[in-house]
Amino acid sequence: MTRRIVITGGGTGLGRAVAHRLLAESPSFALVGRRLGVLEETAAELRAADPQVEVTLHTADLTDPAAVGNAAAEITEAGSVDVLVLNAGGNFGVGGGTGLAAVAESWRADFDGNVLTTVLLAHALKPHLSSPGGRVIAMSSVAAIRGSGAYGAAKAAVNAWVWSEATALATSGITVNAVAPGFVPDTEFWRDRIAADPQVADSRVKQIPMGRPGTPEEVAEAVAYLASPQAGWTTGQILQVNGGTALGRG
Ligand SMILES: NC(=O)c1ccc[n+]([C@@H]2O[C@H](COP(=O)([O-])OP(=O)(O)OC[C@H]3O[C@@H](n4cnc5c(N)ncnc54)[C@H](OP(=O)(O)O)[C@@H]3O)[C@@H](O)[C@H]2O)c1
Repeated sequence: MTRRIVITGGGTGLGRAVAHRLLAESPSFALVGRRLGVLEETAAELRAADPQVEVTLHTADLTDPAAVGNAAAEITEAGSVDVLVLNAGGNFGVGGGTGLAAVAESWRADFDGNVLTTVLLAHALKPHLSSPGGRVIAMSSVAAIRGSGAYGAAKAAVNAWVWSEATALATSGITVNAVAPGFVPDTEFWRDRIAADPQVADSRVKQIPMGRPGTPEEVAEAVAYLASPQAGWTTGQILQVNGGTALGRG
């Protein structure tokens, strides 16, 4: 059976790696993001690897309820959704300014960019999730349990949302989990920060007990497990994929 797999932020970084990892099952993909260009690049890579693969592209700012509604309507024209990977997010609260207005703007940006991007599309697609058998996987971060200001707080809110949704959807046979990566530099998330200050990478690696960064493929492997039919009795889990960063440095 061809599963319909929705991946937000599927044009770059971890979302793109998830699409490549799940390509093996010849699914029907719906990739969502703000920039059509990067979504088209991922779609071209997927079609080059598997000319039979179905890919639809949906541009939307997932913080915007109207745009989310439109994207959800497009996605569900073709039917139900089997796997929903809520990966879009990032560190948005890094603007300048120390006044209260700047602090409020920074916290709102991280909340909108990580929590609303997760919650709104999930809410819109909830009636269309395959039941039983649906799989929802959010992209959290080790930052949720390590501090990291507004970004970590926003990812902690994603964790809390996972727990409440997992409970709410359990009787429908739908699982809801998250993956919590640590430092994965081969992403747009880190590209500009590492370019601006190459020391950033060293300082991050020093916090990782396993002594090396992660790869997008390692994160995608964890998502693939939670998305699999075999993971049907695993729900409400935040899977730490960060080389032991969650444990702290001994
Ligand atoms: N890389 C890491 O070390 C790391 C560690 C822990 C957690 N994470 C999390 O992993 C997820 C993926 O990030 P990444 O590392 O792969 O970085 P990335 O390459 O920057 O990917 C983020 C993706 O999300 C999309 N996106 C962001 N805001 C959006 C919005 N409002 N509406 C629609 N799409 C949006 C972006 O596409 P557009 O700009 O085209 O919209 C982009 O494709 C994020 O949730 C991030 O917080 C990353």
